[in-house]
Amino acid sequence: MRTQAAIIGAGPAGLLLSQLLMQSGISTVVIERRSRAHVLSRIRAGVLEWGSVETLRRAGVGARMDAEGAVHEGVALGHSNHQFRIDFRAACDRAVMVYGQTKVTKDLYAAQDAAGAVIIHDAQDVALHDVEGTPRVTYAKEGRTHEVVADIVAGCDGFHGVARQTIPEAKRTEYAHAFPFAWLGVLSETPPVAHELIYANHPRGFALASMRNAKLSRYYVQVPAETEAQSWSDAAFWDELRRRLPHDAAERLITGPSIEKSVAQLRAFVAEPMRWGNLVLAGDAAHIVPPTGAKGLNLAIGDVALLAEVLTAHFGGDRAALGTYTARALERVWAGIRFSSGMTNLLHRFPGQSAFEQRMQEAELHHIEHSAAAREAVARNYTGLLD
Ligand code: APR
Ligand code: PHB
Repeated sequence: MRTQAAIIGAGPAGLLLSQLLMQSGISTVVIERRSRAHVLSRIRAGVLEWGSVETLRRAGVGARMDAEGAVHEGVALGHSNHQFRIDFRAACDRAVMVYGQTKVTKDLYAAQDAAGAVIIHDAQDVALHDVEGTPRVTYAKEGRTHEVVADIVAGCDGFHGVARQTIPEAKRTEYAHAFPFAWLGVLSETPPVAHELIYANHPRGFALASMRNAKLSRYYVQVPAETEAQSWSDAAFWDELRRRLPHDAAERLITGPSIEKSVAQLRAFVAEPMRWGNLVLAGDAAHIVPPTGAKGLNLAIGDVALLAEVLTAHFGGDRAALGTYTARALERVWAGIRFSSGMTNLLHRFPGQSAFEQRMQEAELHHIEHSAAAREAVARNYTGLLD
């Protein structure tokens, strides 16, 4: 099979890149190792920066998002049984959209199907060859080995994918940081505790009250890094969440059976460069960000929006375009990691944290509450301006 762009991975990054490239008349083949059902079963992020909203609308997948998503013009930060609101509209005239990543992926699949996209699922032993020349992708399916020859290969295959490893180790620089804790997340068919998100610092540990819609809530509590999700009963989760949320929110909490319960490790990771010959990386394949700043999906969408622009110029004859990708993408990636790591350090309880350090976190939150400049900085970074 021959195509202009072979895309490894049918997550949000891979599907969105295929959609944007096909809109520019560039042929694509998406190669995914799991089934469509498995890809669509994943419960992931839920907050879209406004730039991501605009990119998804431009890609022709904004209709259901605009109909079912919720525009949020603020977020609450809590500590010491108190919470305060960061008003995005007042601070930087921006907002975010609360709309689950699972729905984004489903909308992208529908658009790709309508466009007649070639998406190969259950592809095993995917391997990249000759990426510095004319790239080839081989994979096994139904007992046969298949080959796709392409001009460009885009590694959108997530943190555990193969594309990043194709860049020679001696040419790769990887930055990794593991935070000494994790998030235990619960999805419940209960009304959210508030109409906007609440990020809470507490001496017992961090808590987050989020949602998917008016009848579907998403909550997280900080737990030790090695925690097993099933070691927590629903009752224990709700009790701990109630202890950590500011009192007024805790009083409103409506609990119910968890329909999903999982543990996510908190880490940061960046692989440089994001381009090697005719191989480019986008999304989790190149970087991982702690979820405290709601940046994972948004950095992936940001990479893809830039990459679609670069590859459209490349296929239009601009041979310098590809060489600009890494520097432009990494500037945004590192800005997102800076913000998300800062929010993580501000809101979580670190092992061995002293009473002084707890009070310093609370003093910083008090400063943000009472400083318009500090509130604006949080608002601008959270909504995606990353400056
Ligand atoms: N061959 C083919 N496909 C692969 C391979 C492989 N060797 N390895 C992984 N994949 C597929 C995975 O099955 C997955 O469907 O690549 C896809 C990568 O998707 P994501 O992990 O969702 O990454 P990305 O598209 O960059 O989206 C980033 O997803 O993980 C969240 O928090 C992250 O919200 C962020 C978003
Ligand atoms: C979520 O709703 O899953 C969510 C929201 C905000 C975050 C992380 C996760 O920062």
